[in-house]
Amino acid sequence: MTTRTHNAGVGILSDAHTAKREEIVDLLTKAYWAEVETVANYLAASSNLDGIRAKEIASDLAGDVQEELGHARQFAERIKELYGTVPGSSEFPAEQTFLQPGDDPTDVATVIRGVITAEAGAIELYNRIIEATDGVDWATQDMVVAILKDEEGHMRTYERYLREYED
Ligand SMILES: [Fe+2]
Ligand SMILES: [Fe+2]
Repeated sequence: MTTRTHNAGVGILSDAHTAKREEIVDLLTKAYWAEVETVANYLAASSNLDGIRAKEIASDLAGDVQEELGHARQFAERIKELYGTVPGSSEFPAEQTFLQPGDDPTDVATVIRGVITAEAGAIELYNRIIEATDGVDWATQDMVVAILKDEEGHMRTYERYLREYED
């Protein structure tokens, strides 16, 4: 933890909220890794998909890579603002077993289902962060509310895609 010379008297940066701040930094670190893992897996999926039916999804996922990277950057900035340290890759905890490349590069439906699962996981975690910050860390809450809206948009988009690709 960074040494602090001039502490804020109120709010999440104040000494009174040290324990809460550490709890929030832990949650933001989880969120940071979720975004980084999503970047890696959407990049892989957008590269691996083959075929006419996969084209739209591949290019959509390639665009999402940039958006999820933007989320990772916001989580990193906020970790630093809360006196935390953004971790390096040796602490990377991979969790997205459902988004690994399959044997069939034309199997779009499995990729879409994986994306929905990833987005649902992010939505669950970000709801937790919004609750954990309530009344004590408005700035983190505000940031995560905006990111939550992006993930809900992603999930709904892929739910609509799935209807088409499951036919
Ligand atoms: Fe994201
Ligand atoms: Fe997303």
